[in-house]
Order: sequence, then C-alpha cells, then structure tokens
Amino acid sequence: MNHDARQDDGDRQRHALEISGEALAGLLDDAARLAAGYWSGLEARPAYPETSATETARLFARPWADEGRGAAVLEDFTAIAAHSRPSGGRFFGYVFGSGEPVGALGDLLASVLNQNVGAWRSAPAAVAVEQAVIGWLADAIGCPGFTGSLCGGGSSANLMALAMAREAKLPANEDGARPGIVYASEQVHMSVPKAVALIGLGRRNLRLIPVDAEKRMRLDALEAAIAQDRAAGRTPLAIVATAGTVATGAIDPLPAIAAIARREDLWMHVDGAFGVLAALAAPALFEGLSQADSLSLDAHKWLYQPVDCGCLLHRHGDVARETFSHSGDYVRALNTDPGEAFAYFEESLELSRRFRALKLWMSLQYHGRAAFRAAIARDLAHARLLERAVAARPELELLSTGPLSAVCFRHREKDNEALLRRVIARRRVFLSNATLDARFALRACFVNHRTTEEDVRLIVEEVIAAAGEIDG
Ligand SMILES: Cc1ncc(COP(=O)(O)O)c(C=O)c1O
Repeated sequence: MNHDARQDDGDRQRHALEISGEALAGLLDDAARLAAGYWSGLEARPAYPETSATETARLFARPWADEGRGAAVLEDFTAIAAHSRPSGGRFFGYVFGSGEPVGALGDLLASVLNQNVGAWRSAPAAVAVEQAVIGWLADAIGCPGFTGSLCGGGSSANLMALAMAREAKLPANEDGARPGIVYASEQVHMSVPKAVALIGLGRRNLRLIPVDAEKRMRLDALEAAIAQDRAAGRTPLAIVATAGTVATGAIDPLPAIAAIARREDLWMHVDGAFGVLAALAAPALFEGLSQADSLSLDAHKWLYQPVDCGCLLHRHGDVARETFSHSGDYVRALNTDPGEAFAYFEESLELSRRFRALKLWMSLQYHGRAAFRAAIARDLAHARLLERAVAARPELELLSTGPLSAVCFRHREKDNEALLRRVIARRRVFLSNATLDARFALRACFVNHRTTEEDVRLIVEEVIAAAGEIDG
C-alpha cells in the first residue's frame, strides 16, 4: 500500500463530526469554567441586561458557515450570557425559578446519555428514574399514589389534563369533540383558555367565575354557573381550580371545589404550576389537593430547576392511556413484563421525550428534602417581608394578601406603568406587572434560592428612587 492509499483509508475511518478525546476534554474544561464563572459572578450582574432586539439580532445573526469554528464557539457564551436574563437573586418578575446548578449538571449529563424516555425499552434506567421522581413529587405535595409524567411546563401539563378530562367525560378521540363546559376563576392562567381552545371545546365554553376579595374562585358563582348550564341543556365537564394564581398567588378553595366536582360528576384539575410545590413548606394551605383528578406543577418554578421541567400528576392511569395511546405498529412492545412494556408515549403527549428527571434526581438527592423545604419557606418569608416594607411606606399601597410568594402593590400618586419602566431601566431589581381590579400593579415574585433579605429590601428602595425620577 503506498502512502496515499494509507492516507485515504485513514480518512475514510474518521467520521465527519468526530472530536478527539483530548479536544473533548478541553471543551468540557472550558464549559465547566464558563459555567462556574457565570454562577459565581451572578451577584455582580444587573437584574436585567442592558440590551435591545436590534443589538441581539446584530450580535447573533451570524451565518452557518461551511467551515466550523471549533473551540472558539465557546467564547460566544460570554456574549450570550451578557444579553440574557440573569438567574440572580434580584430578578422578581413573572414566576422564574433560579436554575439550581446541580440540576443544570443533571441536564448536561442527561444530554450526554441522549436517552429517548418514550418507553422503558428505549431508556430503561431513565424511565425508572422518572417514575421514582414522580413518586417523590407526589409524596412531597401530599398526593401519594398519584402517577404522571414530566413535561415542558405548566402549559403542557394543563393541556394534557384537559385532554384527559374531555376523554373521561365526553370521549372525543374517535368522533371529535362535542361541546362541554369548563369552569375556572377569572384569575386563571392564560394556558387554560389556550388548552380549552386546542382540545376543540372552544373558548366560549370556558366559564370565568368571579373571585372574592382574596382573588379566590367564588363557590356560589361556580354553583350558579353549573346550574345555569345544566338548565340550558349544556354539559359541564371540568373545573380547573388554581393553587397559586399567577398575579397574586391566590389558592382557590380546594376542598369545597372537590365536593362540587364530586357531586356534579366533573373532572377536577388543579393548576398548581406556580404554587403547589409550596406544599413542602406550608402543607396546610393545600388541604383538598389530593382529591383532585389531576394537577400541574412546575419544578422549573418552585423547585428551582433549570427550564424545562413541568409535571402532570393524576390518579387515572386508565384515562391517561385512553387519551394518549394511539400506538403505531412500529412501536408495539414485544416485551411481556409489564414494567418493560411500559411506555410514557401511551400515557402522555410526547413520543420522543427528554431525560428531564435526571436533573431532579441529582438536584433533589444532592441537597435533600429539608433544604428545598427551607428554601421555599424563605421565599414565603421574603414575600411577607416585602408586604411589611410596602405597608410601611405611606406613598405605596399593598394590593395583594398572600398566602404564597407573589406580592402586588402600587404607588398612590405616580403613573405605575411609567414607574415600572423606570424601575426596570435602573437594572438593580426586576419587577413585572399585574392588573388587579382594573388597576396596574407592580409585582414581585419569590421563587429564587439566591434571593437575600437585602435583595428584598432593595425593592422598595428602588421603587421610591425610581418614583423620584419620573413625573406624575
Ligand atoms: C398558574 C400558572 N399556570 C400555568 C403556567 C404556565 O407554566 P409554563 O410557563 O411552565 O408553561 C404558569 C406560569 O407562570 C402559571 O403561573
């Protein structure tokens, strides 16, 4: 064999995407250094980056060239991080979890394994890990025996729950959807109307029930709406109770709603995407939760996990299979052992599924349950601290009353929308907004293990400082 032929042989054996072990180790070291640097520098970052859509488009609209850039691509992380919302302790907007680092390492290792957690046969260990994690979550919120699956977030979980409710009460898989009525409070999260529309019931068939002064669903109004629909010949189907409304963290009266659902033979779903995990620290708030047919929770919110990590729990495996099992022949299980024939794709929406459970496995086992309970208790305490700080300032008005970790308030004299824009522009804290009784409110939400009491105190200081910088 002459020299050129040997060279050709060598080239043929090397695959196009191959990276040498040495180069890979170098990349891993660099990535670890970037991650550690990011986490240790979070305190020093502003609460929100100084950037614009024009700037991010300019920075990141680069062509995908034929020639690879190699390890230089990791250098882009620095610019991407600089133009990203930091997960630091002074970001109080929306319901954004803080991205617990051990969970992030779990995500990396999940990608390394590259499992498709659709079925036991395609991911034996990963299915067992997810089943174990689902059991921990169900136990932790006082719903032992519930089963379910991890998913992208609360929106996906709410969609799956309502699809199950429809299949249980007005089966639609064969002949299509028939009108059925869903009841939820006026404070319901936007993912519920979206799910009602997507499953073909139509948003007109979602009744938005008025709320009381604490923003909880009014039972008299719920009962009246159900009676009115029945009298008009319509078919009530499900009640969606919220355990932690997105604006103020209100918890609908779960035991009474469960009793109404039972009496009326309706599916009861609890949207606990924001609030339900607080049951770890404050179980008394969630009495009645275990009577739900299904419930959503978001580990990427109040278990501090990196996005994405939603979860649907329920006590109706049979309904889940009726709703989601449409198996094609090519995925037919050849295994006879029921555990080995198990398939998440027959009980939930996705076929190809990420190994989301690994981050939970690593993060929850690393820290232990008490640490999460303490972190959630601290978030609750931070909300009470902010409420006291707001109440102590005569120019501010508190607009919410707990019981979870969202706090709404306003300035009595200023244009609150202009005030919020100014607060955000100062970049020391980030707040979001809510509309309560037709009034614009500033809103802070605590689901962040990095937040300190000092960070909480800064909120009122910043609002007062920003108010001094705007007219009217
Ligand atoms: C009460 C409630 N439900 C559902 C959702 C949607 O969750 P996700 O963003 O994970 O889809 C949210 C998000 O904030 C929420 O607060």
